[in-house]
Amino acid sequence: MSDTLVTVDPAVNNLREYLETLFAPDDELLQALVRETYAVTQHPRMLGDRWLCTFMEWFIATHSVHRVLELGTFTGYSTIRLARAVGATGAVTTLESSTLHADIAEKYFARAELTTRITLLRGTACNLLPTLLGHTFDLVYVDADKAEYPQYLELIAPLLDIGGTIIADNVLWGGKTYTSSEHDVRTNALRTFNSALFANHSFKATLLPAGDGVIVATKIK
Ligand SMILES: C[S@@+](CC[C@H](N)C(=O)[O-])C[C@H]1O[C@@H](n2cnc3c(N)ncnc32)[C@H](O)[C@@H]1O
Repeated sequence: MSDTLVTVDPAVNNLREYLETLFAPDDELLQALVRETYAVTQHPRMLGDRWLCTFMEWFIATHSVHRVLELGTFTGYSTIRLARAVGATGAVTTLESSTLHADIAEKYFARAELTTRITLLRGTACNLLPTLLGHTFDLVYVDADKAEYPQYLELIAPLLDIGGTIIADNVLWGGKTYTSSEHDVRTNALRTFNSALFANHSFKATLLPAGDGVIVATKIK
């Protein structure tokens, strides 16, 4: 379903099909969200990677995660999965700059009866993140504008207590990040973000070369 797993490589398509036999299928509500996303948005393949959603659900269940911050809601697929994973006592704050995307997401949050658990803030992440100072989150899922990932890191760090974790998607950017001839703005920003996290002694980071590349980094001091 994500850009990264839709490929002409038959081996990767076989992997994708195999993973689908293992993962729980989407319920009716998420299937309807996916259909509407394909019908009305320009880049439906931005929809949450089902492998990554499963990974975050595992992380939430095994690390006592209650408060989640998401950068980049899109139409709310991952937000709904995160909100279900944190349970009734948890909360998800999600940031989205596109009115179209936010409107669709809010419709499905209501249908999923998750409006008390999800707060959607409209605007750009760089403008919204400073307004969250004073709040802390157990998990921050970074999935908005790749060109702004380095700024997000600066703005997210004060929102994490020790033990708080960043999960950032697309850090290998279809292979561009490790292709030395690629120098567009997003690729360079992702390189800066990756290096900054690994060099930052306040974080313990790892990079999972799965999907489109995912960094998992926990604040340790
Ligand atoms: C890859 S999609 C998010 C996918 C979603 N997290 C999921 O897994 O289903 C990225 C989203 O970030 C939004 N976005 C782009 N730039 C942004 C910014 N500067 N601030 C907030 N959202 C932004 C886009 O409109 C888009 O909806």
